[in-house]
Amino acid sequence: MIDLLRAKRDRGSLSTPQIDWMIDAYTRGYVGDEQMAAMAMAILLNGMTRSEVRDLTLAMIASGETMNFDGLGKTTVDKHSTGGVGDKITLPLMPLVASFGVAVPQLSGRGLGHTGGTLDKLESIRGWRADLTNDEMMAQLRDVGGVICAAGAGLAPADKKLYALRDITGTVEAIPLIASSIMSKKIAEGTKALVLDVKFGSGAFMQDIARSRELAQAMVDLGNDAGVRTSALLTDMERPLGLTIGNANEVRESLEVLAGGGPADVVELTLALASEMLALAGQPDADVAGALTSGRAMDTWRRFIVAQGGDPDAALPVAQESHTVYAASSGVLLEQLALPFGIAAWRLGAGRARATDQVVHAAGIDLHLKAGDAVTEGQPLFTLFADDASRFERALDALDGAYAVGPAASFVPRGPLVAERLA
Ligand code: URA
Repeated sequence: MIDLLRAKRDRGSLSTPQIDWMIDAYTRGYVGDEQMAAMAMAILLNGMTRSEVRDLTLAMIASGETMNFDGLGKTTVDKHSTGGVGDKITLPLMPLVASFGVAVPQLSGRGLGHTGGTLDKLESIRGWRADLTNDEMMAQLRDVGGVICAAGAGLAPADKKLYALRDITGTVEAIPLIASSIMSKKIAEGTKALVLDVKFGSGAFMQDIARSRELAQAMVDLGNDAGVRTSALLTDMERPLGLTIGNANEVRESLEVLAGGGPADVVELTLALASEMLALAGQPDADVAGALTSGRAMDTWRRFIVAQGGDPDAALPVAQESHTVYAASSGVLLEQLALPFGIAAWRLGAGRARATDQVVHAAGIDLHLKAGDAVTEGQPLFTLFADDASRFERALDALDGAYAVGPAASFVPRGPLVAERLA
């Protein structure tokens, strides 16, 4: 390991056997955290070649089990988002795509920090459960067409260990490490096609579009090299998606989209990703908008919720306390920055600081206006929800400078929500 560390420190490349040995030895505990942390930092500083990133990804896949959906007799296609604020797209997207007869095996995560987690959102629904066995997953893919569940502990265990180490050593932000981390799990999951939603902007993992593009291209190359048809959309996360940030409120908004309504940006991104997924699955002309308005996607949603133990008709949890912020002047809502709104929702209880924390499903923020909308003095701008009113002060601190009302001439529109496609 010392030889490997010296090689990477001095900008050399690691061979396939070296990378295989390192990941195997680290997974078994033969290489310790201190040496692996030094390697992660050397990779962050000096990068990796495309073949090194591929070798690292394959070695992490080989550290655990892989899933195989070949017996289903259906094309499989999945989506991964690098995460954002108000990003509830998986909820309407999975049933929408599954309603076209393809199988969508969506292994999702829980929220950590300011970005929400799909499983936390769905757990707002009474009875719904995220933990399925591989057999249950297979049966549901056959019967319903789609599943959203937690990844089993057996999938890419080397990545779990390395990601936890990166989290405490300032090495999360290395593109070769992010790309191999995400793609090892997605390739091990066994999907045949994959669409990546790679975000840029204030609420995204990568704020800068050039870094997002670099990450997206690295992941697209990894997927295609491993035989998974992969493409990526670069999408704007400067402002929250939709009008809700939280858990139960994001389920409510997703249901509006499945009922043929919902905020324009959520609908636009859902349709763009659904078209991309279905194109990779061999249905380039699928009428995705029609499946929302006809109720076909909603039917699949209801069957999916029931299959995972949930009651699709149960009332969603409601917060005990609320606090509305009103416009102090008239004009146009000039700004609404995703990151501070995400942090505020987190402080209200919608997110967690440690993996073991519980989320408050009813906590979060409802936006009453989007950037660019006209505002009249005294009009409600947004409402905070929590189970404990003492949380409002710290949430409001996070929102200091996050929004502004001013003259229409000062409003600077953002570029398109879906900025680029990479394949
Ligand atoms: N998500 C992952 O799964 N891995 C990373 O490295 C970053 C985000």
